[in-house]
Order: sequence, then C-alpha cells, then structure tokens
Amino acid sequence: MAEPLRSRRSCLAVPGSSQKMIEKSRTLAADEVFLDLEDACAPAAKAQARTAIVAALRAGGWHGKTIAVRVNGWATHWTYRDVAEVVAGAGAHLDCLILPKAENASHVQALDLLLTQIEKAERLEVGRIGIEAQIEDARGLVNVDSIASASPRLQALIFGPADFMASMAMKSLVVGEQPPGYQADAYHYPLMRILTAARAAGLSAIDGPYLQISDVDGYRRAAARSAALGFDGKWVLHPGQIAAANEVFSPGQDDYDHAENILDAYAWFTSESGGSRGAAMLGSEMIDEASRKMALVLAVKGRAAGLTRQLVMTPPFAAAGDRS
Ligand code: GLV
Ligand code: MG
Repeated sequence: MAEPLRSRRSCLAVPGSSQKMIEKSRTLAADEVFLDLEDACAPAAKAQARTAIVAALRAGGWHGKTIAVRVNGWATHWTYRDVAEVVAGAGAHLDCLILPKAENASHVQALDLLLTQIEKAERLEVGRIGIEAQIEDARGLVNVDSIASASPRLQALIFGPADFMASMAMKSLVVGEQPPGYQADAYHYPLMRILTAARAAGLSAIDGPYLQISDVDGYRRAAARSAALGFDGKWVLHPGQIAAANEVFSPGQDDYDHAENILDAYAWFTSESGGSRGAAMLGSEMIDEASRKMALVLAVKGRAAGLTRQLVMTPPFAAAGDRS
C-alpha cells in the first residue's frame, strides 16, 4: 500500500443548503468535510446551495482538513452546473470533488475532462483537484476496477451503503446495519471488492454512512468491521460519530510503537552493521520483509493520525532472552 494521500478517518457530510451546519463543520475534528449538493440537498435548494458553497469555500476556515464538494451524479441534469459553478467560483479553495453513483470509468473520465477545461479557463493548476468516486450500485461494483484506474485525479473509492442496498433490493431500511435474516456480514463482499480495487490502484478506501446517528455503539461496530478489513475511514453524518471514527481508524499506541520499532529494527538488521540479515528476531517475534510491509501500513496510518512514539527501541534490538 502506498502512503495514503490524506488522512480520511472521519469524512463529515454537510448539506450544502445548511448555513448553520457549514459554519459548525469548521470547528469539528473530522479529517475531511464535504459540502453536499447531492442527496442531502433538496432539488429546489440546489441552485442556492451552489452559491452558498462557493461563498463558504472562499471564506475558508477548515484549517488542516480536506475540503470536498459532492456534486450530483451524471444521471441527473445538475452535474455540469455543480462543477462549473463550484470550481469556477472557488476551485482554488477545494481539494476534491466527490462523484456519486459512479457506474463506469466514463463517469470519472467525464468529470476529469470537465475539471480540466474549467481549470484551464480559470487559470487554476491543472489536475490539482482530486476525485473521490462513490461505488453505490450493482453497475459501479461490477466496474469497480476500471473506475479505480480511470483518472490520475482519483484519490479514494467510497462505499455508498444506502444506494447500494436499494440497488440490490436488500431487505432492510436500516442503512449501514446488517439486514435481518442473514447470519454473516452482508457488506463483506462489496467492501472487500472496493478495497481490493482501491489498493490495486493505490487509492484510499472509505466506508459510507451509518444512518442511526444516535446509536454511536452501532456506528463503532460498523466502523470496526471495515477498519479490520483495511479501510482508511468512514463517513460521519453527525458530530457525535467523529470521535468514534477517528479512534477506530487510528492504530492503538502499542501497535503504532511496535510498527515503528519493526521498521527501525528491520532497517538495522538488513544493514551491514546489523549483519545484513533478511530475517531476524525482534524480541520473541521473527521479522522479515513481509513484516516490514505490514508495519509500514500501520506506521503510516499512525503518523497520519498524529501519533508520536512512546516506546523507541534501538540497536541491537535484542530483548532479554533473545536467541537471535
Ligand atoms: C451514500 O451516498 C449512500 O448511498 O450510502
Ligand atoms: Mg448515495
């Protein structure tokens, strides 16, 4: 896995039509904030929301966060105006666009081309604005590999459980929760499919929303499932879900320290002064090149989460009783 482009443990959805929520989102601890022109914004409110989003982006104030706008999907008649108004009005203040209901590679390519024209016309840096693509129906999932490699602007694939449940005719209305009557994890297949496509293309993988916003334990359970698979983060719909997301998608302090120590130890063991060894003992554990790769993933996530090392081991990395 390459270094994640940005930390996206918690991605906060903010309706572009709500001045109050836009205001509040500046003060919250989400890694990413996205202003929504799609499903959280009523059809009659979209035109006004575009104007409000441009003004909010120009005003700024989300220090250190990734700022995105979710435009409407290509099956609507709103997409081109969403992109044109937002990027022409505030492209320099925007990190990414989120494209919902990406069904095939051409959806991403169309957005890439449109963005490029607007960037040129507005004298913005061409290619700087990234794309996050939502995989949220049967077509998108079937085409996820080609979607993942459709544009160098792509930074993340996002699972959209609500639209996905509708697309599959899943027998439940509780978004993000397991449908009754099935004993295993009903989301394992789409999550793994998206994660594999994302990793193969060097992208981040983000889980979608959990709509029972007052059930933070339920949110935490759902987040823990995708985090265990390898996902980088999850959407949050309410400030009360942010701390849970940041915690679940960060490595624990012990795991982080261990990962950094494996990296240091492996670098030393493979060097001349460490004996140029490919496999060696760190305490009671054997480490090799595969351990280094696993440790790097965890260390990178820990660094991105702002963790600092509490336990630093040094050469010769031998614990008492080490027989290496
Ligand atoms: C999000 O867009 C979803 O459909 O779950
Ligand atoms: Mg959706």
